[in-house]
Amino acid sequence: MKHSNRFRMPMLTLLSGALLATGVAVQPASAHNPSLRALAERAGVRIGTAVDMAALADDRTYRRTTAREFNSVTAENVMKWESVEPQRGVYDWKPADDLVRYAHAHGQVVRGHTLVWHSQLPGWLTTGVADGSIDATELRGILRNHITTEVKRYKGRIQQWDVVNEVFEEDGSLRNSIWLQQLGPSYIADAFRWAHAADPKAKLFLNDYNVEGVNAKSTAYYELVKELKAVGVPVQGFGIQGHLAIQYGFPGQVAENLARFEALGMQTAFTEVDVRMILPVDEEKSATQASYFRRLLDACLGARSCKSFTVWGYTDKYSWVPGVFEGQGAATPMDEEYGRKPAYGELREGLAAGR
Ligand code: G3I
Repeated sequence: MKHSNRFRMPMLTLLSGALLATGVAVQPASAHNPSLRALAERAGVRIGTAVDMAALADDRTYRRTTAREFNSVTAENVMKWESVEPQRGVYDWKPADDLVRYAHAHGQVVRGHTLVWHSQLPGWLTTGVADGSIDATELRGILRNHITTEVKRYKGRIQQWDVVNEVFEEDGSLRNSIWLQQLGPSYIADAFRWAHAADPKAKLFLNDYNVEGVNAKSTAYYELVKELKAVGVPVQGFGIQGHLAIQYGFPGQVAENLARFEALGMQTAFTEVDVRMILPVDEEKSATQASYFRRLLDACLGARSCKSFTVWGYTDKYSWVPGVFEGQGAATPMDEEYGRKPAYGELREGLAAGR
Protein backbone atom coordinates (compact mmCIF):
# COMPACT_ATOMS: atom_id res chain seq x y z
CA MET A 1 0.00 0.00 0.00
CA LYS A 2 1.28 3.45 -0.79
CA HIS A 3 0.68 5.77 2.10
CA SER A 4 0.39 9.46 1.57
CA ASN A 5 0.46 11.88 4.43
CA ARG A 6 -3.30 11.97 4.07
CA PHE A 7 -3.11 8.50 5.56
CA ARG A 8 -4.00 10.07 8.92
CA MET A 9 -3.58 7.01 10.77
CA PRO A 10 -3.70 10.62 11.88
CA MET A 11 1.67 8.83 33.33
CA LEU A 12 2.65 5.94 33.88
CA THR A 13 1.49 4.27 37.14
CA LEU A 14 3.69 1.27 37.58
CA LEU A 15 2.41 -2.24 38.02
CA SER A 16 5.93 -3.28 38.79
CA GLY A 17 8.91 -1.08 39.43
CA ALA A 18 10.46 -2.52 36.28
CA LEU A 19 8.68 -0.21 33.83
CA LEU A 20 10.77 2.75 32.81
CA ALA A 21 10.35 5.19 29.98
CA THR A 22 13.83 4.30 28.86
CA GLY A 23 12.96 0.62 28.78
CA VAL A 24 14.33 -2.49 30.40
CA ALA A 25 15.59 -5.77 29.11
CA VAL A 26 13.17 -8.58 28.35
CA GLN A 27 12.26 -10.35 31.55
CA PRO A 28 10.57 -13.68 32.16
CA ALA A 29 6.90 -13.48 33.13
CA SER A 30 6.14 -13.91 36.82
CA ALA A 31 3.40 -13.07 39.31
CA HIS A 32 5.03 -9.69 39.90
CA ASN A 33 5.86 -9.12 36.29
CA PRO A 34 2.86 -10.46 34.40
CA SER A 35 2.99 -10.61 30.63
CA LEU A 36 0.44 -8.85 28.46
CA ARG A 37 -0.99 -12.22 27.50
CA ALA A 38 -1.45 -13.32 31.12
CA LEU A 39 -3.39 -10.14 31.85
CA ALA A 40 -5.35 -10.41 28.60
CA GLU A 41 -6.42 -13.93 29.45
CA ARG A 42 -7.87 -12.66 32.73
CA ALA A 43 -9.57 -9.79 30.91
CA GLY A 44 -11.12 -12.14 28.33
CA VAL A 45 -9.54 -10.54 25.30
CA ARG A 46 -6.87 -11.67 22.84
CA ILE A 47 -3.71 -9.59 22.71
CA GLY A 48 -1.98 -9.99 19.37
CA THR A 49 0.92 -8.86 17.25
CA ALA A 50 1.87 -8.89 13.60
CA VAL A 51 4.81 -11.23 13.14
CA ASP A 52 7.80 -10.64 10.87
CA MET A 53 8.84 -14.14 9.83
CA ALA A 54 12.45 -13.22 9.03
CA ALA A 55 12.81 -11.85 12.55
CA LEU A 56 11.15 -14.93 14.01
CA ALA A 57 13.72 -17.10 12.26
CA ASP A 58 16.78 -14.99 13.09
CA ASP A 59 16.19 -13.28 16.42
CA ARG A 60 15.91 -15.33 19.59
CA THR A 61 14.71 -12.43 21.72
CA TYR A 62 11.96 -11.75 19.18
CA ARG A 63 10.87 -15.39 19.27
CA ARG A 64 10.79 -15.47 23.06
CA THR A 65 9.04 -12.14 23.44
CA THR A 66 6.40 -12.97 20.83
CA ALA A 67 5.57 -16.14 22.76
CA ARG A 68 5.70 -14.49 26.16
CA GLU A 69 3.59 -11.42 25.52
CA PHE A 70 0.94 -12.43 22.97
CA ASN A 71 -1.77 -15.02 22.58
CA SER A 72 -2.71 -14.09 19.02
CA VAL A 73 -0.50 -13.61 15.96
CA THR A 74 -1.02 -12.18 12.49
CA ALA A 75 1.33 -12.73 9.55
CA GLU A 76 2.65 -9.27 8.70
CA ASN A 77 3.26 -10.32 5.09
CA VAL A 78 3.52 -14.06 4.49
CA MET A 79 -0.17 -14.86 3.98
CA LYS A 80 -0.57 -12.15 1.34
CA TRP A 81 -1.15 -13.24 -2.23
CA GLU A 82 2.26 -12.22 -3.64
CA SER A 83 3.88 -14.28 -0.92
CA VAL A 84 1.80 -17.47 -1.21
CA GLU A 85 1.52 -17.65 -5.01
CA PRO A 86 4.49 -15.77 -6.48
CA GLN A 87 4.06 -17.50 -9.83
CA ARG A 88 0.76 -18.66 -11.16
CA GLY A 89 0.00 -22.10 -9.73
CA VAL A 90 3.32 -22.17 -7.84
CA TYR A 91 2.70 -21.86 -4.13
CA ASP A 92 5.06 -21.06 -1.29
CA TRP A 93 3.34 -21.92 1.95
CA LYS A 94 6.42 -22.45 4.06
CA PRO A 95 6.61 -19.15 5.96
CA ALA A 96 2.85 -19.13 6.60
CA ASP A 97 2.95 -22.77 7.69
CA ASP A 98 5.85 -21.91 10.01
CA LEU A 99 3.80 -19.18 11.67
CA VAL A 100 0.77 -21.42 12.14
CA ARG A 101 3.03 -24.09 13.66
CA TYR A 102 4.74 -21.56 15.96
CA ALA A 103 1.35 -20.29 17.11
CA HIS A 104 0.10 -23.79 17.83
CA ALA A 105 3.25 -24.62 19.79
CA HIS A 106 2.77 -21.52 21.93
CA GLY A 107 -0.98 -21.69 22.51
CA GLN A 108 -1.72 -18.73 20.26
CA VAL A 109 -4.58 -18.18 17.84
CA VAL A 110 -3.94 -16.86 14.33
CA ARG A 111 -5.56 -13.96 12.49
CA GLY A 112 -5.39 -14.57 8.75
CA HIS A 113 -4.28 -11.51 6.77
CA THR A 114 -5.38 -11.00 4.01
CA LEU A 115 -7.31 -12.58 1.13
CA VAL A 116 -8.47 -9.72 -1.12
CA TRP A 117 -6.41 -6.55 -1.27
CA HIS A 118 -5.34 -4.09 -3.95
CA SER A 119 -1.72 -4.22 -2.72
CA GLN A 120 0.94 -6.94 -2.63
CA LEU A 121 -0.69 -8.79 -5.50
CA PRO A 122 1.59 -11.11 -7.49
CA GLY A 123 3.12 -9.63 -10.65
CA TRP A 124 1.67 -12.35 -12.89
CA LEU A 125 -1.82 -11.28 -11.86
CA THR A 126 -1.46 -7.50 -12.19
CA THR A 127 0.41 -7.87 -15.48
CA GLY A 128 -2.17 -10.30 -16.85
CA VAL A 129 -5.01 -7.92 -16.03
CA ALA A 130 -3.14 -4.91 -17.43
CA ASP A 131 -2.24 -6.55 -20.76
CA GLY A 132 -5.70 -8.10 -21.16
CA SER A 133 -4.49 -11.70 -21.10
CA ILE A 134 -6.64 -12.27 -17.99
CA ASP A 135 -10.23 -11.17 -18.61
CA ALA A 136 -12.91 -10.55 -15.99
CA THR A 137 -14.37 -14.06 -16.12
CA GLU A 138 -10.99 -15.64 -15.65
CA LEU A 139 -10.07 -13.17 -12.91
CA ARG A 140 -13.17 -14.08 -10.94
CA GLY A 141 -12.19 -17.76 -11.15
CA ILE A 142 -8.64 -16.92 -10.09
CA LEU A 143 -9.91 -15.00 -7.06
CA ARG A 144 -12.26 -17.78 -6.09
CA ASN A 145 -9.46 -20.32 -6.39
CA HIS A 146 -7.08 -18.17 -4.33
CA ILE A 147 -9.55 -17.72 -1.49
CA THR A 148 -10.64 -21.34 -1.49
CA THR A 149 -7.10 -22.73 -1.62
CA GLU A 150 -5.70 -20.55 1.14
CA VAL A 151 -8.65 -20.76 3.50
CA LYS A 152 -8.89 -24.54 3.10
CA ARG A 153 -5.19 -24.97 3.76
CA TYR A 154 -5.57 -23.43 7.22
CA LYS A 155 -9.10 -24.63 7.91
CA GLY A 156 -9.72 -24.87 11.64
CA ARG A 157 -6.48 -23.05 12.44
CA ILE A 158 -7.41 -19.44 11.70
CA GLN A 159 -9.67 -17.74 14.20
CA GLN A 160 -10.36 -14.58 12.19
CA TRP A 161 -9.72 -13.95 8.49
CA ASP A 162 -9.35 -10.49 6.99
CA VAL A 163 -11.32 -11.41 3.89
CA VAL A 164 -11.34 -8.02 2.22
CA ASN A 165 -8.88 -5.33 3.15
CA GLU A 166 -9.05 -1.57 2.56
CA VAL A 167 -11.89 -1.48 0.02
CA PHE A 168 -13.07 2.08 0.67
CA GLU A 169 -11.53 5.47 -0.02
CA GLU A 170 -11.53 8.16 2.65
CA ASP A 171 -14.72 9.73 1.25
CA GLY A 172 -16.62 6.44 1.53
CA SER A 173 -16.56 5.56 -2.17
CA LEU A 174 -15.40 2.09 -3.13
CA ARG A 175 -11.67 1.95 -3.85
CA ASN A 176 -10.93 1.92 -7.56
CA SER A 177 -8.97 -1.35 -7.41
CA ILE A 178 -8.59 -3.98 -10.11
CA TRP A 179 -11.27 -5.92 -8.25
CA LEU A 180 -13.82 -3.16 -8.55
CA GLN A 181 -12.80 -2.32 -12.12
CA GLN A 182 -12.92 -5.89 -13.38
CA LEU A 183 -15.58 -7.56 -11.25
CA GLY A 184 -17.78 -4.75 -9.96
CA PRO A 185 -18.83 -4.38 -6.30
CA SER A 186 -20.18 -7.94 -6.06
CA TYR A 187 -16.63 -9.23 -5.55
CA ILE A 188 -16.97 -8.34 -1.86
CA ALA A 189 -19.98 -10.58 -1.20
CA ASP A 190 -18.47 -13.32 -3.37
CA ALA A 191 -15.23 -13.24 -1.37
CA PHE A 192 -17.09 -13.75 1.92
CA ARG A 193 -19.22 -16.56 0.49
CA TRP A 194 -16.17 -18.39 -0.89
CA ALA A 195 -14.22 -17.98 2.36
CA HIS A 196 -17.17 -19.23 4.40
CA ALA A 197 -17.57 -22.29 2.19
CA ALA A 198 -13.90 -23.11 2.70
CA ASP A 199 -13.91 -22.73 6.51
CA PRO A 200 -17.39 -22.25 7.99
CA LYS A 201 -16.02 -21.73 11.52
CA ALA A 202 -13.55 -18.91 10.84
CA LYS A 203 -14.83 -15.45 11.70
CA LEU A 204 -14.76 -13.39 8.53
CA PHE A 205 -13.71 -9.75 8.73
CA LEU A 206 -13.68 -6.53 6.78
CA ASN A 207 -10.54 -4.57 7.69
CA ASP A 208 -9.32 -1.01 7.10
CA TYR A 209 -7.37 1.99 8.41
CA ASN A 210 -8.81 5.39 9.35
CA VAL A 211 -12.01 3.76 10.56
CA GLU A 212 -11.39 4.04 14.28
CA GLY A 213 -13.98 6.75 14.81
CA VAL A 214 -17.22 7.72 13.12
CA ASN A 215 -16.41 9.22 9.71
CA ALA A 216 -17.33 8.87 6.03
CA LYS A 217 -15.19 5.78 5.59
CA SER A 218 -16.39 3.89 8.67
CA THR A 219 -19.96 4.85 7.80
CA ALA A 220 -19.46 3.32 4.35
CA TYR A 221 -18.48 0.08 6.10
CA TYR A 222 -21.49 0.33 8.37
CA GLU A 223 -23.80 0.65 5.37
CA LEU A 224 -21.99 -2.15 3.55
CA VAL A 225 -22.41 -4.50 6.52
CA LYS A 226 -26.13 -3.76 6.62
CA GLU A 227 -26.41 -4.53 2.91
CA LEU A 228 -24.39 -7.72 3.13
CA LYS A 229 -26.29 -9.00 6.15
CA ALA A 230 -29.64 -8.20 4.53
CA VAL A 231 -28.89 -10.69 1.78
CA GLY A 232 -27.33 -13.30 4.06
CA VAL A 233 -23.67 -12.80 3.23
CA PRO A 234 -21.49 -14.45 5.92
CA VAL A 235 -19.65 -11.43 7.34
CA GLN A 236 -18.97 -11.53 11.05
CA GLY A 237 -16.35 -8.96 11.92
CA PHE A 238 -15.18 -5.40 11.46
CA GLY A 239 -11.42 -4.97 11.81
CA ILE A 240 -10.15 -1.54 12.77
CA GLN A 241 -6.47 -1.33 11.95
CA GLY A 242 -5.58 1.51 14.32
CA HIS A 243 -2.56 3.05 12.59
CA LEU A 244 -2.47 6.36 14.43
CA ALA A 245 -0.04 9.27 14.43
CA ILE A 246 0.18 11.62 17.40
CA GLN A 247 0.55 14.68 15.15
CA TYR A 248 -2.95 14.09 13.77
CA GLY A 249 -4.68 13.74 17.12
CA PHE A 250 -6.87 10.98 18.48
CA PRO A 251 -9.91 10.02 16.39
CA GLY A 252 -13.36 11.02 17.62
CA GLN A 253 -16.26 8.74 18.62
CA VAL A 254 -14.38 5.47 18.77
CA ALA A 255 -16.71 3.91 21.36
CA GLU A 256 -19.76 5.01 19.33
CA ASN A 257 -18.27 3.47 16.23
CA LEU A 258 -17.68 0.11 17.91
CA ALA A 259 -21.19 0.23 19.38
CA ARG A 260 -22.89 0.72 16.03
CA PHE A 261 -21.13 -2.31 14.50
CA GLU A 262 -21.92 -4.31 17.62
CA ALA A 263 -25.58 -3.37 17.21
CA LEU A 264 -25.48 -5.02 13.78
CA GLY A 265 -24.33 -8.24 15.45
CA MET A 266 -20.73 -7.84 14.33
CA GLN A 267 -17.60 -8.79 16.19
CA THR A 268 -15.04 -5.99 16.26
CA ALA A 269 -11.27 -6.05 16.66
CA PHE A 270 -8.33 -3.70 16.63
CA THR A 271 -6.09 -5.40 14.13
CA GLU A 272 -2.93 -3.35 13.40
CA VAL A 273 -2.41 -0.82 16.16
CA ASP A 274 0.64 1.40 16.15
CA VAL A 275 1.11 5.06 17.02
CA ARG A 276 3.84 6.82 15.12
CA MET A 277 5.38 10.23 15.72
CA ILE A 278 7.72 12.68 14.09
CA LEU A 279 11.20 11.80 15.33
CA PRO A 280 13.06 12.36 17.57
CA VAL A 281 11.21 10.85 20.49
CA ASP A 282 10.81 12.93 23.61
CA GLU A 283 9.06 12.35 26.91
CA GLU A 284 5.93 14.25 25.95
CA LYS A 285 5.49 12.46 22.62
CA SER A 286 6.08 9.17 24.31
CA ALA A 287 3.41 9.94 26.91
CA THR A 288 0.94 10.98 24.21
CA GLN A 289 1.65 7.79 22.32
CA ALA A 290 1.07 5.75 25.48
CA SER A 291 -2.28 7.43 26.02
CA TYR A 292 -3.34 6.68 22.42
CA PHE A 293 -2.55 2.99 22.83
CA ARG A 294 -4.48 3.00 26.11
CA ARG A 295 -7.50 4.78 24.68
CA LEU A 296 -7.80 2.29 21.82
CA LEU A 297 -7.38 -0.61 24.22
CA ASP A 298 -9.97 0.84 26.59
CA ALA A 299 -12.39 1.25 23.68
CA CYS A 300 -11.91 -2.43 22.89
CA LEU A 301 -12.32 -3.52 26.49
CA GLY A 302 -15.41 -1.35 26.76
CA ALA A 303 -17.16 -3.16 23.89
CA ARG A 304 -18.39 -6.72 24.33
CA SER A 305 -18.01 -7.27 20.60
CA CYS A 306 -14.26 -6.51 20.67
CA LYS A 307 -12.51 -9.83 21.01
CA SER A 308 -8.95 -8.98 20.11
CA PHE A 309 -6.45 -6.16 20.18
CA THR A 310 -3.47 -6.60 17.88
CA VAL A 311 -0.43 -4.37 17.54
CA TRP A 312 1.33 -4.12 14.17
CA GLY A 313 4.66 -5.22 15.58
CA TYR A 314 5.73 -4.59 19.15
CA THR A 315 9.35 -3.53 18.74
CA ASP A 316 10.68 -0.59 16.73
CA LYS A 317 13.42 -2.93 15.53
CA TYR A 318 11.10 -4.35 12.87
CA SER A 319 8.41 -1.70 12.42
CA TRP A 320 7.26 -0.87 8.88
CA VAL A 321 6.78 2.81 9.73
CA PRO A 322 10.21 4.42 9.12
CA GLY A 323 10.43 2.76 5.70
CA VAL A 324 7.19 4.39 4.58
CA PHE A 325 6.96 7.68 6.48
CA GLU A 326 10.22 9.52 6.27
CA GLY A 327 11.28 11.06 9.57
CA GLN A 328 8.62 9.19 11.54
CA GLY A 329 8.75 6.08 13.65
CA ALA A 330 9.02 4.82 17.24
CA ALA A 331 5.48 3.56 16.68
CA THR A 332 5.44 0.39 18.79
CA PRO A 333 5.33 -0.35 22.55
CA MET A 334 8.99 -1.43 22.76
CA ASP A 335 12.12 0.25 21.46
CA GLU A 336 14.71 -1.37 19.22
CA GLU A 337 16.34 -3.11 22.20
CA TYR A 338 13.02 -4.48 23.44
CA GLY A 339 12.94 -1.86 26.17
CA ARG A 340 9.41 -1.18 27.37
CA LYS A 341 8.06 2.26 26.65
CA PRO A 342 5.27 4.02 28.54
CA ALA A 343 2.96 2.55 25.85
CA TYR A 344 3.78 -0.93 27.06
CA GLY A 345 2.99 0.14 30.61
CA GLU A 346 -0.36 1.56 29.56
CA LEU A 347 -1.28 -1.64 27.73
CA ARG A 348 -0.38 -3.58 30.81
CA GLU A 349 -2.39 -1.34 33.11
CA GLY A 350 -5.36 -1.34 30.80
CA LEU A 351 -5.40 -5.12 30.57
CA ALA A 352 -4.93 -5.40 34.33
CA ALA A 353 -7.96 -3.15 34.86
CA GLY A 354 -9.94 -5.54 32.65
CA ARG A 355 -13.35 -5.02 31.12
O1 G3I B 1 10.26 -9.69 0.87
C1 G3I B 1 10.84 -8.69 0.03
C2 G3I B 1 12.31 -8.92 -0.11
O2 G3I B 1 12.51 -10.13 -0.77
C3 G3I B 1 12.90 -7.74 -0.89
O3 G3I B 1 14.28 -7.89 -0.95
C4 G3I B 1 12.57 -6.41 -0.21
C5 G3I B 1 13.06 -5.22 -1.00
O4 G3I B 1 12.19 -4.12 -0.89
O5 G3I B 1 11.18 -6.31 -0.12
C6 G3I B 1 10.59 -7.34 0.65
O6 G3I B 1 9.21 -7.14 0.66
C7 G3I B 1 8.75 -6.10 1.49
C8 G3I B 1 7.76 -6.72 2.48
O7 G3I B 1 7.16 -5.70 3.26
C9 G3I B 1 8.42 -7.72 3.41
O8 G3I B 1 9.39 -7.08 4.18
C10 G3I B 1 8.02 -5.07 0.64
O9 G3I B 1 8.96 -4.40 -0.17
C11 G3I B 1 7.31 -4.08 1.51
O10 G3I B 1 6.51 -3.23 0.69
C12 G3I B 1 6.41 -4.80 2.46
O11 G3I B 1 5.78 -3.84 3.28
C13 G3I B 1 4.64 -4.28 3.99
C14 G3I B 1 3.41 -3.50 3.56
O12 G3I B 1 2.29 -3.91 4.32
C15 G3I B 1 3.09 -3.67 2.09
O13 G3I B 1 2.16 -2.77 1.70
C16 G3I B 1 4.87 -4.07 5.47
O14 G3I B 1 5.95 -4.92 5.90
C17 G3I B 1 3.61 -4.40 6.26
O15 G3I B 1 3.78 -4.00 7.60
C18 G3I B 1 2.44 -3.62 5.68
O16 G3I B 1 1.28 -3.99 6.38
C19 G3I B 1 0.08 -3.31 6.03
C20 G3I B 1 -1.06 -4.28 6.20
O17 G3I B 1 -0.83 -5.46 5.47
C21 G3I B 1 -2.40 -3.65 5.81
N1 G3I B 1 -2.61 -2.41 6.53
C22 G3I B 1 -1.53 -1.43 6.47
C23 G3I B 1 -0.21 -2.07 6.91
C24 G3I B 1 0.91 -1.07 6.94
O18 G3I B 1 1.17 -0.58 5.65
